[in-house]
Amino acid sequence: MEGVSATARWTAAARAEETRREDRLFTDALAADLAGPEGFARYERYANPGTTEFLAIRTRYLDDVIARHAGLAQVVLVAAGLDTRSARLDWPDGTVLYELDQPDLVEWKEKRLAELDARHRCDRRPVGTDLTGPWEEELAAAGWDQAVPTLWIVEGLLFYLPEAGAHGLLERLAFRSAPGSVLAGDLLGHQSMVSEFTQDGLRRLREDGCPWLWGTDRPEDVLAACGWRVADLKVPGEDGASYGRWPWPPLPRDTVGLPMNHLFTAAR
Ligand SMILES: C[S@@+](CC[C@H](N)C(=O)[O-])C[C@H]1O[C@@H](n2cnc3c(N)ncnc32)[C@H](O)[C@@H]1O
Repeated sequence: MEGVSATARWTAAARAEETRREDRLFTDALAADLAGPEGFARYERYANPGTTEFLAIRTRYLDDVIARHAGLAQVVLVAAGLDTRSARLDWPDGTVLYELDQPDLVEWKEKRLAELDARHRCDRRPVGTDLTGPWEEELAAAGWDQAVPTLWIVEGLLFYLPEAGAHGLLERLAFRSAPGSVLAGDLLGHQSMVSEFTQDGLRRLREDGCPWLWGTDRPEDVLAACGWRVADLKVPGEDGASYGRWPWPPLPRDTVGLPMNHLFTAAR
């Protein structure tokens, strides 16, 4: 796995590290095997204050969003990477979980999950595609129905896409969403791109061929311009985005010079 695909091994390693904690926010029994040595090496290489905590909080926040929207039987992990929610969450009967990601990653993951004898707890349907192009036909070919409300989870993706491409994807998701659909995920703050505290990490990501490309300090405006109405917006440390794991007070939204991340849930 190379370039941006390999970042999926980093976040799998982060979930494996979380799983080892006594006070873990979730358990991902497959994460260590999926991350492999390369994933743990990247986990060390990209370590920055707050990164480990944020990755754990992000996963748990989105687990909670999924649980809150259990009525939506059509769920799409947009850039699923090595996510194993299909195996580790309780899914209501009838849930169909689509996992979109790059074809090389999907192929590798399917082989590795088979070797690990992974058991899924919903109707899981992986789809290899390029999210910067038209992916709807491939998703529909796997059974996704545009007329049915969808829960879209966009975790750890948008800042790897060129800004215009990320906006285009958010617009496409909105355009293809039946009323009642929900989008949840994370957006990097622009401050994370310019803060002196992130420059080493950003350099390493560039060197490894998986640069972070953009961020925004006005996530609600970006989402609104792409057709999404924000229902929940949190920075780490706020109620509902801390789980006792964030060690600092939440940063005020207009903070300048410190790394910033946003978690959001939005409606069509
Ligand atoms: C940091 S990983 C996040 C994966 C997963 N959501 C998680 O949180 O562990 C970023 C993912 O985005 C995927 N990705 C990046 N650009 C993509 C594109 N143009 N089309 C499809 N997937 C893409 C990568 O393959 C990788 O799996």
